[in-house]
Amino acid sequence: MPLVTSRQILQPARKHGYAVGAFNTSNLETTKAILAAAVAQRAPVIIQTTESAISYAGMDVLLAMITTMAKQARVPVAVHLDHGKHPTVVREGIQKGYTSVMIDASHLPLQQNITVVRGIVRSAHQKGISVEAELGRIMGTEDIITSREQLFTDPKEAKQFVRETRCDALAVAVGTAHGLIKSRGEPRLDFARLREIAAAVPVPLVLHGASHVDPQIIALANRYGAKLRHTQGIPDSQIRKAVKLGVAKVNIDSDLRIVFDAAVRKFLKTHPRAYDPRDILGAATRAMQHAVERKIRLLGSAGKA
Ligand code: G3H
Ligand code: 13P
Ligand code: ZN
Repeated sequence: MPLVTSRQILQPARKHGYAVGAFNTSNLETTKAILAAAVAQRAPVIIQTTESAISYAGMDVLLAMITTMAKQARVPVAVHLDHGKHPTVVREGIQKGYTSVMIDASHLPLQQNITVVRGIVRSAHQKGISVEAELGRIMGTEDIITSREQLFTDPKEAKQFVRETRCDALAVAVGTAHGLIKSRGEPRLDFARLREIAAAVPVPLVLHGASHVDPQIIALANRYGAKLRHTQGIPDSQIRKAVKLGVAKVNIDSDLRIVFDAAVRKFLKTHPRAYDPRDILGAATRAMQHAVERKIRLLGSAGKA
C-alpha cells in the first residue's frame, strides 16, 4: 500500500475519538514488529525516527528500510521524523521521503517557535507532507515533572500557535515525560488543561512520553541482570481519557526498548548456546510485536485500517 501522511490518518482519528500509535524505531527488528502488529490488528500506524536514530543508522538507510517494508504492509503507514530539532535535518527529511515531520522548536520563546515552524510548514506543505509542532516543554528522561506548571502548554497560546503556523498536529505538554522516569508518584495528566486545548485547537493533539513503563517488564529485565531504574509510567486509564479528549497520536518508545531489553536478556539466559542473531533478535521482535498490538488495542485504532 502507498505511504500516507500523518494528517491522512490523524484527522479521522481525532474526528472519531481514537488514537494512532506512533512507534519509534532505529533498526530492522523494531520496524518489523511495528508493521506486523499493525497488520495483525488492521490498524493505521506511524513509524518514526528521531535525529539520534538518524545518527545511529543514517537517514538514507532508515528511509530505504522503513519505506520498503511499509509499502509491503496492507495497512496505511506514515513515516515520520520525530523531534526534528534542526531545520536542516527536517528539510532534508522532507526532500528525502518522510511523509510527515515534526519540527520541535519548543525550547524557543513563542514568537520564535512560530517563525521556525511556519517556515517548515511552508516547505512541507508544498510537497504535501504534514507537520507536527510542539508548544510547552515535555520533559526528558531524568526530569521530574510534578509542579512544572509553567512548562505546560497554555491553551490560549496553542490557539494562536496553530492559527499562525498552520501546523497539522500539535504536541502538548500536559504532564507526560520522556523515558523511564516519569514523575515522583503516579503521573497525573492535567485533563482540565487538555480539555481547554482541545476546545481551542481543531488539529489532532499529540501525546509524547506516553509509555506505560510496565513494572512487570522492568522486573523481568532486572531479574535477568538489568539494573533499570524507573518510576510509574502513564496508566492505561489516563491514556484512554486523553484520547477521548482529543489526543489522536500517542508516541511510544521506552515501552518497546524495555520489552526488547527484557526479551534479549531472558533469551540469552534461557538459551545459553544461542549465538545466531536471528534467534536472539527474533525473540525480541515477537515480544515487541505483542507490546505494539496491546497499545493499538488500547488506543482504539484496531480495525480502523
Ligand atoms: O522522544 C524521543 C525518544 O524517546 C528519545 O529518543 O533516544 O532516539 O533521541 P532518542
Ligand atoms: P516514551 O519515552 O514515553 O516512550 O515517549 C516517546 C516519545 O515521546 C517519542 O517522541
Ligand atoms: Zn517525544
